Amino acid sequence: MYFPINFIFLFTLSPFWVPSKALEIDSTDPIPSPWPHQFHATTIMNYTGGLRKVDLWYDWPNKRYLHINQYQLGKKLYGVEWQNGTSFYFTLDSTEECTIRHFPVGILRPNWLEGANYMGQRYKDGFLCNVWDKIDFIHYYEDVATQIPVYWHFYDGMPI
Ligand SMILES: *[C@@H]1O[C@H](CO)[C@@H](O)[C@H](O)[C@H]1NC(C)=O
Ligand SMILES: *[C@@H]1O[C@H](CO)[C@@H](O)[C@H](O)[C@H]1NC(C)=O
Repeated sequence: MYFPINFIFLFTLSPFWVPSKALEIDSTDPIPSPWPHQFHATTIMNYTGGLRKVDLWYDWPNKRYLHINQYQLGKKLYGVEWQNGTSFYFTLDSTEECTIRHFPVGILRPNWLEGANYMGQRYKDGFLCNVWDKIDFIHYYEDVATQIPVYWHFYDGMPI
C-alpha cells in the first residue's frame, strides 16, 4: 500500500508522558503500513509553542528528511535532518537564524512502527482509524480504508 504523493495529516505533541498498560499481542491484529521510501506530506502540528503547518519530505534512500515549518502568524523555519544525527534549522528571511542540533537517532526507518501495540479502531477527524501505541511515546492513527496516516500524538514532545 502506497501513500499518495501529497496527503495531509494532523500531528500533535504533548509534553506529558502517559504510561499505558502493556497490551497482549494478538497475531490477528492489523499492523501499521510501512512508510513509502519517499513521500511528501502536509501536516498541521499543534505543539506547546502554537500551531504550525509543516510540509515534510521523507527520503529514505538518501537518508534525509526536510521539513518546512510555517508558524501561525510567524516565521518560516526550514529543517534538514541527516542520518548521522545532525540537524540544521534555519530561516531564509532577513532574520538569518541557523541552529545545529544532534540527535542520537537518525532518520526513522520505513518500518519504524513495527512492533507497535494495536489499540483498536477509533474515529479521528471523521476517519475510521486503526490505532497503535509505540512504546508509550506515540499514538499513531491510520485510515482503515486507505492505510494513510491521519494523526499522530507524541508524548515526549519534540525539539524546535
Ligand atoms: C492544540 O492543543 C491545545 C492544548 O492541548 C488545545 O487546547 C487546542 O484545541 C489544540 N488545537 C487544535 C487545532 O487541535
Ligand atoms: C552529518 O552529515 C551532514 C551532511 O552530509 C554534514 O553536513 C554534517 O557535518 C554531518 N555531521 C557529523 C557530526 O558528521
